Amino acid sequence: MTTGLLSEKLALVTGAGSGIGRKVCSLLAKEGAKVLATDQNVKAVEDTVAELQGTGHIPIKLNVKNVNDIEDLFTNIKRNFSIPTTIIVNNAGIVRSNSIVDMSEKDFNDVIDVNLKGAFFIMQYAARAIINAGNTDDASIINISSIASIIKYPYNANYTASKAGMNGLIKTAAAEFLKYDTNIDLFFLKQTFIINFIINPMMQLILGMARVNAILPGLVNTPLSQTLHKETIQELTENKIFKYTGKTNDVAELVTFLASPKSLFINGALIEITGGYI
Ligand SMILES: NC(=O)c1ccc[n+]([C@@H]2O[C@H](COP(=O)([O-])OP(=O)(O)OC[C@H]3O[C@@H](n4cnc5c(N)ncnc54)[C@H](O)[C@@H]3O)[C@@H](O)[C@H]2O)c1
Repeated sequence: MTTGLLSEKLALVTGAGSGIGRKVCSLLAKEGAKVLATDQNVKAVEDTVAELQGTGHIPIKLNVKNVNDIEDLFTNIKRNFSIPTTIIVNNAGIVRSNSIVDMSEKDFNDVIDVNLKGAFFIMQYAARAIINAGNTDDASIINISSIASIIKYPYNANYTASKAGMNGLIKTAAAEFLKYDTNIDLFFLKQTFIINFIINPMMQLILGMARVNAILPGLVNTPLSQTLHKETIQELTENKIFKYTGKTNDVAELVTFLASPKSLFINGALIEITGGYI
């Protein structure tokens, strides 16, 4: 039996073949979670899994743009595991920088499809699986958004729109997932105000529910940030209290905390991790 803050948990991480995603897998595994490390680049994600502590981790090829592939993934998880994934990290993300006037439809669509649509459908299938399993554990869905979603971020309108979309998703999902009582069928009682607004939320707290939060990192040293436009990097570095660039470990520590019962009271939150962006 594994020990650790996340032992007996099954985690799913997208974009796990590089940067932040790879580090997240490493810390989740260190805390005892079994990690399903997914990425469109299967070789990269195999390398991620080869470095993980503990056993039972699985590298999986997944392009989050393909909703059919997401559906197949969750069908396979149900077939092969006795528990659903209750730690879900929507991390896969891309940047296609250009000015608004020059941006192609393809670059706009690609960024929205990976960053926003991918995260939405992972969340949808993960939530369905949790509800269908009648899971009573605390489940935690974590979207890796960006500080770019709430600041000016020249030459990345597609990216800022996708990440702002992820933020919106968080609030709505946190509210919707509160409604699901995963263990007891109170349907006939749910018609009343008292059950809807007082007893049922309390039952959720007791029985567990899917918390949903977003992390808004500033500049973090990864292959993705190497490709950013000069002005974008300037925007991210000049307005910070700490002048150094973040490390993948900084973000992964926060993800691990949000995945754990230590953060039970955090839900529907947008959490900045930027080195003090002001
Ligand atoms: N690095 C930063 O400064 C920074 C800042 C804020 C937010 N972020 C966000 O953090 C997340 C991780 O970024 P990173 O910096 O580690 O980037 P990265 O480029 O190092 O890693 C991204 C991973 O996502 C994978 N990926 C890309 N498209 C995919 C798809 N369609 N399906 C599945 N996997 C796909 C890539 O293969 C890669 O392994 C992204 O969502 C990014 O927007 C990064």
